[in-house]
Parts: sequence; structure tokens; C-alpha cells
Amino acid sequence: MDPPRGALTLKEMDPKTFRAFCDFIYEQSGITLKEGKESLVSARIAKRMRANGIVDPRAYLEFVMADRSGRELVEMIDAISTNLTFFFREEAHFDMLRGVLSGWRDQGQLTYRIWCAAASTGEEPYSIAMTVLDVLGEGATDTRILATDISTRVLKTCTEGVYGENRMRNVSAGYRQRFFERNKDRATGEVRYTVKPSLRELVFFKRLNLSTPPFPMRGPMDVVFCRNVMIYFDQRVRANLVNEIYRLLKPGGYLMVGHSESLAGIATPLERVCPATYIKPG
Ligand SMILES: C[S@@+](CC[C@H](N)C(=O)[O-])C[C@H]1O[C@@H](n2cnc3c(N)ncnc32)[C@H](O)[C@@H]1O
Repeated sequence: MDPPRGALTLKEMDPKTFRAFCDFIYEQSGITLKEGKESLVSARIAKRMRANGIVDPRAYLEFVMADRSGRELVEMIDAISTNLTFFFREEAHFDMLRGVLSGWRDQGQLTYRIWCAAASTGEEPYSIAMTVLDVLGEGATDTRILATDISTRVLKTCTEGVYGENRMRNVSAGYRQRFFERNKDRATGEVRYTVKPSLRELVFFKRLNLSTPPFPMRGPMDVVFCRNVMIYFDQRVRANLVNEIYRLLKPGGYLMVGHSESLAGIATPLERVCPATYIKPG
């Protein structure tokens, strides 16, 4: 039976229910929500309760747990996680990528496999793709960029590859012209940038939960971007993820993490090259 809809006065989330949400979210996504996040979690969960016409947080939790389709779970994790991203975020990594790709190209490498592990709405994988095409040229190599995320909502934006003017700040005029179609929406007058097929066809999208390795990919990967997602995980989830990335990287392949993240405290043979950049020795 469908839950009732309309204007709702929601019940407050009690501490026991908050803990039950935290445990369930951790189990399902590896995302750790600490004490002190009660109001943030309640506000985000409240959106989903309203969308489903449920007034009691405990009843909503039971509803998500019972939903065999998994759709509400995806919606709830979407509401909980932060999807902030932008083109060429933490630019030093793109300079680094440029350098390593040029080196491999000069050695005659023709096949490239890059994994963007928490791709969010696509700005990161498309920034990687622009860098790849700039360095390696179009059609000259066999290149694939795998873009994964736990959220099907962000992956939809990623797949569509359409961005408003405000999202394009860090994309140079040259790159805009080379890699995007610029259109004005007739109805709203808003300018939209759509990624061109040359860029779009390099990127492959898949839903993947980083907290549940092993992953179905075989590798080897040349470069893995796993940035600004490990901050949501505890040390156990992080360590399992880093070990899996290690397995998937080729010897001499690189792992980029967010600039506020590090592999400190994780037992891994990966070696630090410079801040937030690691290499698999080989
Ligand atoms: C803050 S964004 C970072 C996006 C991008 N990597 C960047 O640095 O700009 C974090 C992303 O991680 C995703 N995420 C959170 N938990 C995840 C999990 N367990 N598995 C895969 N992706 C996850 C979120 O959906 C979100 O899109």
C-alpha cells in the first residue's frame, strides 16, 4: 500500500534511531556518520521521508530495509552523501597526469585504462578525458576511462554530460570550444554545455560501491583517481579499498587521492610520489 502524501509534520529522530541509520548506512555504503551529525542526517533523511509520505524516522528506516528493489536505498545514500565536484579540481593532479601520459606515450604505449572511482556528476572523468585527448590526440590510442559511483542519480548527469555555465568556470575557452557544444535553452535562455562525442565516447559509466571489494574489473589500470571519497570511510573500509586499487593497478601505475586524504596508517606497498599521489612499485 502506498504511504499517505501531503503536508507532513515529521517526528524527530531519537538517538537510538539515529544510531540505527548510521549502522545501516555504514553496512550498505561504508559511509561513516559520527556523533554530532544528527541534525545533518535528520535533515537529509527528512527529504526522503517527505518524498515517501512517511512521518516517523523509524518507519522510514524499516521501509528502506524492506524495499527489495533497492531503489529507496540508492535515494537515501544519495541524500546522505555529498556530491560536490568541479572540473579540474585539485589541478596539480591533471598536470601530473599530463606528465605521466606523455612519458608512456614516448615509450610507445598505445592502450590506456583509467578509473575514476567516485565520479559524481562527471566533471572529474571528463577532466581526465580532456587531458588524455590533449596529450595523446584523438583516435591515436585505445583509451577507456571507467567512471563509477554508488549514486545512480549522479551517474545519470555524468552520462548526459550537460553542464550549466556556472559549472564551467575551470574549463578554458580553448577546451570549451574543442570539447563542448554550447547551446542556449529556448525556454529559459540558460546556456548549456554538452560534451562532444569525441570526449563522451572515452568514458564508460557503472554503478559501483567502493565499500564492497573485490570489484568485477580485471585491470590492469594505468591510473586510478579515487578522490574526496575516502574521507567518508573508516580505516577498515579505506584499507580494503586501497588494497583492491593496488591489485588493479599495473606496476608503475598511479593512484591519486584527494588533497585532504592520505594513505597514512594503511599497510600498503604503494609509494608516495608527491602529496596525494602514489605509485605501485614495479
Ligand atoms: C565529494 S564527491 C567527490 C567527487 C570527485 N571524486 C571529486 O573529487 O571531485 C564524493 C562521491 O563519492 C560517492 N560515494 C560515496 N560513497 C560511495 C561508495 N561507497 N562507493 C562509491 N561511491 C561513493 C558519492 O556518491 C559522491 O559522488
